[in-house]
Amino acid sequence: MHVNRKSIVIKVLVLFCLFYLGIHVMMNGGPVIRELQQSGRSLAALDISNVDPPINERTSVLNVNKTNDRKQTNDNDILSEPNLKPLLSPTPKPEPTVWEKVKIITECVDRPMVTKTQQRGDYWVLYNYIPAEKTFRCEETITYTTHADFSFMDNLVPLLERWQAPISIALHAPGTDFSNTLESIAHLRDCTSPLVRELVTFHIYFSTKHVPKEVPKADSLFAEPYNCSLTPPYLNVTADQMYKAQKKLLYPVNVGRNVARESAQTYYILPSDIELYPSLNISLQFLELIATNKGPLLSKHPKVFPLHIFEVSANAQVPESKTVLKEMLNNGTALPFHKKLCSGCHNIPKAKEWQVAPESSGLHVFHVGKRNGRFVHWEPIFIGTHNDPLYDERLSWEGKSDKMTQGYALCVLDYDFMILDNAFLVHKPGIKVYKKDPKRAMLAGKTNQLIKKIIFPELKVLYGVRKGCAV
Ligand SMILES: *[C@@H]1O[C@H](CO)[C@@H](O)[C@H](O)[C@H]1NC(C)=O
Ligand SMILES: *[C@@H]1O[C@H](CO)[C@@H](O)[C@H](O)[C@H]1NC(C)=O
Ligand SMILES: *[C@@H]1O[C@H](CO)[C@@H](O)[C@H](O)[C@H]1NC(C)=O
Ligand SMILES: *[C@@H]1O[C@H](CO)[C@@H](O)[C@H](O)[C@H]1NC(C)=O
Ligand SMILES: *[C@@H]1O[C@H](CO)[C@@H](O)[C@H](O)[C@H]1NC(C)=O
Repeated sequence: MHVNRKSIVIKVLVLFCLFYLGIHVMMNGGPVIRELQQSGRSLAALDISNVDPPINERTSVLNVNKTNDRKQTNDNDILSEPNLKPLLSPTPKPEPTVWEKVKIITECVDRPMVTKTQQRGDYWVLYNYIPAEKTFRCEETITYTTHADFSFMDNLVPLLERWQAPISIALHAPGTDFSNTLESIAHLRDCTSPLVRELVTFHIYFSTKHVPKEVPKADSLFAEPYNCSLTPPYLNVTADQMYKAQKKLLYPVNVGRNVARESAQTYYILPSDIELYPSLNISLQFLELIATNKGPLLSKHPKVFPLHIFEVSANAQVPESKTVLKEMLNNGTALPFHKKLCSGCHNIPKAKEWQVAPESSGLHVFHVGKRNGRFVHWEPIFIGTHNDPLYDERLSWEGKSDKMTQGYALCVLDYDFMILDNAFLVHKPGIKVYKKDPKRAMLAGKTNQLIKKIIFPELKVLYGVRKGCAV
């Protein structure tokens, strides 16, 4: 009798538990099951050796409200009882998408896009002043981050048509350059490719000593459509038409680089110069490479992914694939970047081997190099992340060596430079030849002193030293 009563109590308890569980699986089962699958997937991701799924198999799993899910699971700790697990196990586990793998591998966190006015050293910055219509999750794509003044904005559309992914651009617009900059943006958004509105986020900055007369509030910009029959201000600008030149200002290249970089929403970024056009389809193929998570990608060192850079003659087409690039290198219409200006500056490890290697499908790591030995002064352009050191804002474009101090930090931090096999950059057509510029030479001399006497000693304190590293 006693035993029977006890067993009845147990039966009632078990029934109650099953009932409670049933209700929960019915009402909240989706998120709970997804959460369980996801934790399983985190483990699976460490061994992603299987073939990638088609890139368009994007599911909405990444959109689930994580905070919410976790709360649900905690409320129902009963679900984690081992003896109840089999109830949930028959659900098939779908193969994660490329984006899910990238998210797990990078552990990236989404970055909000906030419009704000903020001081940065001697500059005022209008962050996200004109945001792109699309926003991006951190694992979704790569952001090309760059800097310019309005006279370079003719590059934006050709760049965008190749890149087909977000661009974050910081524009230097002191004094009266500001209104020309706004008009240039309006023209690009209203009268050129629809990709400009969709993908490009514009930031504007100027020195606190050269604030424009009027700065419209971000939400009252472009109330009227631009008259597309007007000539946009960015075409055929001569230096003397610019406020910057009239006032003999230097171009604060690294302020622009850093503003554009910090504002990018994605985990991976390609900090570059606006005249460097990428080969096609880099962003998707790069994420597929990251998702493989094997070979050199498993290295414990921090890593960046440098791109080879080329230039082509003024009347040539910019090659879209490595196959065409190789033909152009062979017939002399393309050259490694700055070959005639400073052949050592952009030398890349295993450059000759890269140039003869045939194009393959997708992207792979061609060679892992270091910034030492023959490459000790290398100023590579690479796909990296927000974790990489920023650029020193005391350096100007005119003074040159503007990426050297970052290069030193990367060397001391023992970065791996994972050179990509089929991706590359090509400078806007026209091969640069050496021209004497005494003013720039003088500034470059001053910059070298600044780096040697002030910045380098700071870097040694902050990052330390490593044999074979130099600025
Ligand atoms: C996620 O869930 C939290 C808590 O329930 C809620 O406040 C938030 O609005 C949700 N976010 C989204 C994007 O659904
Ligand atoms: C647009 O500009 C053209 C050329 O200056 C001018 O003829 C035309 O009247 C303008 N249209 C409008 C609507 O302002
Ligand atoms: C700009 O210059 C190019 C060649 O130098 C010329 O073909 C073009 O018509 C000019 N455009 C404008 C708007 O002046
Ligand atoms: C871009 O690359 C992806 C992934 O490799 C591929 O699925 C897609 O077809 C490529 N697109 C083009 C236009 O080549
Ligand atoms: C060089 O090669 C490219 C790509 O094949 C071709 O379009 C171009 O016409 C060639 N130029 C000369 C001068 O042979």
